[in-house]
Amino acid sequence: MKYIRFGNSGLKVSQIALGTWHLPESNEVDSFNINKVDEPLALNIIKSAIDNGINFFDTANIYHGVMQNPDVYHTGNSERILGKALIGYDRESLVISTKIMGRMANHPNGIGLSRKYVRWQVNESLKRLKTDYIDILHMHMPDITTPIEETLDTLSALVYNGLIYYIGESHFHPYDIIYILNYSRTVHLQMISMQEPYNLIDKYIEKDKIDIARIYGLGIMAYMPLAHGFLSGKYINEIPPMSRFYNNLSEYINPENIKVLDKINEIARNLDASLAQVSISYIIRKGELLNIPIVPVVGITKIEQLNEIVDSLNLKIPDDYIKMLDDVSLQFKNVPHEDYKRIIKYNIN
Ligand SMILES: NC(=O)c1ccc[n+]([C@@H]2O[C@H](COP(=O)([O-])OP(=O)(O)OC[C@H]3O[C@@H](n4cnc5c(N)ncnc54)[C@H](OP(=O)(O)O)[C@@H]3O)[C@@H](O)[C@H]2O)c1
Repeated sequence: MKYIRFGNSGLKVSQIALGTWHLPESNEVDSFNINKVDEPLALNIIKSAIDNGINFFDTANIYHGVMQNPDVYHTGNSERILGKALIGYDRESLVISTKIMGRMANHPNGIGLSRKYVRWQVNESLKRLKTDYIDILHMHMPDITTPIEETLDTLSALVYNGLIYYIGESHFHPYDIIYILNYSRTVHLQMISMQEPYNLIDKYIEKDKIDIARIYGLGIMAYMPLAHGFLSGKYINEIPPMSRFYNNLSEYINPENIKVLDKINEIARNLDASLAQVSISYIIRKGELLNIPIVPVVGITKIEQLNEIVDSLNLKIPDDYIKMLDDVSLQFKNVPHEDYKRIIKYNIN
């Protein structure tokens, strides 16, 4: 495994992180008739990741592990499973990232980034993760109902109390990120992470966020590096009805995306690698070329997938192939995956 310095900090993370949004699914259902996570396999995947040298794990308070948008009865499950898997390992050898903001209870303070919610959910995450501190706490999404200064002052106090070490953002407007970075410095808060989608068919962060990361010393946790598995090429001939792709993302199969997939396929053949390996290796190489730490956060539901992804660290894509991939995917730079909500009204006084 290769370890890199993450953002403008002393923190060292593995070049690949393991995400826990989607864990393997079992056929058993719970009392709500929701499929359960295949917990033994999930624990095995996390342990195998550690055996492979991965020290960087991502989760969120709202993640269930199987459900896409969990209700308040199913949230917290991924953090709980991750906490269980990490028992017995040296906590100081691991870097845990989690995220807060999503709905965790059906009352007005059950969602958001208020002081009340942040303090409550950090304490709950610590309990679920069975740890004394969180390495990187991400604000999962903007909360337009809370002054961002309230959130950042609260996070700063939590750093002072040793409950969190660094902070990160996810899905904030580029201008707001700059405001947050500047305000954070005034309260001795180190914001080091940007968690955003980045893959060969979603390059929207190349429009401006990558520059912000470079200028302000942020590491990028590139999520959905395989576009839900699409970039592995496995859905081209058939989308199995039980797959996560079937329910959500069959619209990914369009001529522009297929063109990218064809190019990945051609390069994979030439390099004797898989499409998934080329897609992951491309993201890592882009980080090196741009001189920013970019860590793909991979979702894994089978041990074989994990081994294949870890093996992509041995793949060195020649720069002329990187250029070909850049060219074929350039069109995705200006296609927003969502409109970032603005949270800050610049009433400077
Ligand atoms: N900040 C945010 O809002 C946010 C949003 C989304 C994700 N994330 C983070 O990013 C992580 C990764 O997201 P993601 O799961 O969407 O990532 P992804 O890597 O794009 O997709 C993962 C899926 O790809 C398939 N896959 C993985 N390795 C494969 C291989 N070697 N060959 C073929 N297929 C393979 C698996 O599909 P099957 O399960 O069908 O086998 C797996 O579930 C999440 O767990 C989470 O931690 C953060």
